[in-house]
Amino acid sequence: MIKLNGVTKSFGDNHILTGVDLALDEGDSLVLIGGSGSGKSLLLKCMIGLVEPDAGSVEIDGHDARRMSGRDRKAFETRFGMLFQYGGLFDSLPVWENIAFRLLQDSAWDPKRAREAADDRLAMVGLEAEVGDLYPAELSGGMQKRVGLARAIATDPEVLFLDEPTAGLDPIMCNIIYEMIQKNVNELGATSFVITSDMTGALKISNRMAVLHEGRIVWDGPTADVEASGNADVDQFIHAASGRSA
Ligand SMILES: Nc1ncnc2c1ncn2[C@@H]1O[C@H](COP(=O)(O)OP(=O)(O)O)[C@@H](O)[C@H]1O
Ligand SMILES: [Mg+2]
Repeated sequence: MIKLNGVTKSFGDNHILTGVDLALDEGDSLVLIGGSGSGKSLLLKCMIGLVEPDAGSVEIDGHDARRMSGRDRKAFETRFGMLFQYGGLFDSLPVWENIAFRLLQDSAWDPKRAREAADDRLAMVGLEAEVGDLYPAELSGGMQKRVGLARAIATDPEVLFLDEPTAGLDPIMCNIIYEMIQKNVNELGATSFVITSDMTGALKISNRMAVLHEGRIVWDGPTADVEASGNADVDQFIHAASGRSA
């Protein structure tokens, strides 16, 4: 579905991605782990075309992303849902319009149906329909995160990109979010790409894991094999991460 080949990205002398090879295949539940500041969010932005790599290529369904027409890119974008690490909600819109943003742009959806869809997604992330009338600034950070997630799933996307979906949430809410991701992926057959620092969650929601370290993917394989990766950097990271989340 999406394939990165030798992707590099620097900011001045700060060489963040130094040659990333990574493929997201249909049906994957891929979790990306890596230290804070290692470039995970940046890698995701390269995948979805928000950041252009300095070198290397990004292929979408086998086509070079740089040579895609505007229409093909739009078509690709309608297939994915995205949760940004820092929410990325529109402050000037009430919560329900944030969630239903894409639906409201589509003339096939009347506002009443879009509102119902928004309420439905709010329920999926454990929020009351009344929250839909509030503005993002009136919500706690955790609630904003859940609204961001509700927006990401509003269009029942084929591919779900989630950047730190549970950071800052309490353990009960983390479990709700993980169950929701599992439900989306298992029942709806979606493909997911999730960045997380929470090892417990990562083990629950992924069938594949990739580890970013010093600008490259140093390990990529079935989640079941990560404990026995034989890679010192991976071991160090997963043990530190599971310690943190315990
Ligand atoms: N637009 C940008 N301009 C300058 N530096 C950036 C930009 N985006 C990311 N970086 C730098 O790239 C590094 C990796 O960032 P990020 O991908 O957010 O890390 P992670 O998500 O793994 O914590 C950081 O040092 C950050 O400062
Ligand atoms: Mg990040």
